[in-house]
Amino acid sequence: MGEKSKIVVVGAGVAGLTTALLLSKRGHSVAVVAKHMPGDYDIEYASPWAGANYLPVSAPGTREAEWDRITFAELYRLTTQVPEAGIHFQDAIIYRREKDSRSVSANWFSELLKERPWFASIVPEFRRIPKSELPLDADFGVRWKSMCINPAIYLPYLLSQCLKQQVRFFRGTLTHICQAVDFHLTSSAPSSSSNIVVVNCTGLGSSTLGGVTDSRLTPARGQIVLVRNTAPAMIVASGTDDADDEVMYIMTRAAGGGTILGGTYQQGSWSSVPDKATAERIMKRAVKWCPELVGEGKGVEGLDVIRHGVGLRPLRVGGARVEKEVIGGVRVVHNYGAGGFGYQASYGMAEEAVRLIEESLKEEVKARL
Ligand SMILES: Cc1cc2nc3c(=O)[nH]c(=O)nc-3n(C[C@H](O)[C@H](O)[C@H](O)COP(=O)(O)OP(=O)(O)OC[C@H]3O[C@@H](n4cnc5c(N)ncnc54)[C@H](O)[C@@H]3O)c2cc1C
Ligand SMILES: *[C@@H]1O[C@H](CO)[C@@H](O)[C@H](O)[C@H]1NC(C)=O
Repeated sequence: MGEKSKIVVVGAGVAGLTTALLLSKRGHSVAVVAKHMPGDYDIEYASPWAGANYLPVSAPGTREAEWDRITFAELYRLTTQVPEAGIHFQDAIIYRREKDSRSVSANWFSELLKERPWFASIVPEFRRIPKSELPLDADFGVRWKSMCINPAIYLPYLLSQCLKQQVRFFRGTLTHICQAVDFHLTSSAPSSSSNIVVVNCTGLGSSTLGGVTDSRLTPARGQIVLVRNTAPAMIVASGTDDADDEVMYIMTRAAGGGTILGGTYQQGSWSSVPDKATAERIMKRAVKWCPELVGEGKGVEGLDVIRHGVGLRPLRVGGARVEKEVIGGVRVVHNYGAGGFGYQASYGMAEEAVRLIEESLKEEVKARL
């Protein structure tokens, strides 16, 4: 005892960075090692591709819903008090079409599409949209004040906040979770597995890390188009007439971040290449639901494209994994598998991971590296 506990976080997506930040603020000595860092755009790195907004989709009473509830408070604080985080308020408008009720998207959004979802009591200005104001073939709609995160600002912001807390960052690709222990060697205190916790925040990127493949992990592929046009609100429709696993959502990122047009929710698809026909459908639907994007009389040609992109949501069948275990004498805490809610649940998940890490440090572990 007496030795300072050391924590190595593997992964620098929103999960790894948030966990590292909370740990460092609680006085732990933290190192982050990752294959991809903020600034990178890669199919193995989900975080930069996200919208990202706060639209809870988890059923009431689940731990996911609790993570969303906890995270709302922190995102709200950041939006109102920390402009450099790159988050702004934007109304969310949700349209439901009864004909979508059996689609993949309606299933994914089922909580969101309720008349009174659990989060109606925590988000500001939740209200029903009068029938006379519903566009196109929408049968029902709600609206509230939500938040949109610009990941191009927010991820570097989190990293900066970590640096301020003396978190050290290393670029590295691990093939076994126990290699993470080596990343505390620059410190003078002897590194042994007895005072180290490794935090597994590897998303989907390393489904074979350490030879342990989590068979429940699968991508939910999201193709997006980022445009320079501005939308008056974040708009989501319950489905499309084009394909069961295609969706329609629009959100304008803070601080000149452009507008994300979505999208798809294709489970089991690993394709990293934006599909041209899909992109055309995405743009067409966006202009149809939100003509204000391009102005009166203009169609898809009025969109000014910045880039096409694909991200893989790290979906874990049966729920995200926030858990502790001991692997080869090393304490490991997992925080991965957030699917499409990695931002909106980030603080709730990271807080739970921190609790497990601190619990784990109190437990006796026989070192055998
Ligand atoms: C199109 C799209 C839209 C989305 N919209 C939203 C939204 O509006 N709201 C929301 O809350 N969420 C949204 N999401 C989901 C969100 O992006 C993810 O849940 C979240 O980014 C997952 O973060 P992560 O940190 O777990 O994983 P990642 O961001 O994928 O990070 C994984 C990290 O682990 C590292 N890593 C992996 N393997 C290794 C290894 N062997 N060695 C070293 N490092 C390794 C990677 O390099 C990377 O740093 C969206 C996702 C997509 C694709
Ligand atoms: C770490 O997380 C990945 C998911 O990215 C998972 O597949 C793997 O099994 C975990 N590693 C260990 C050693 O449990």
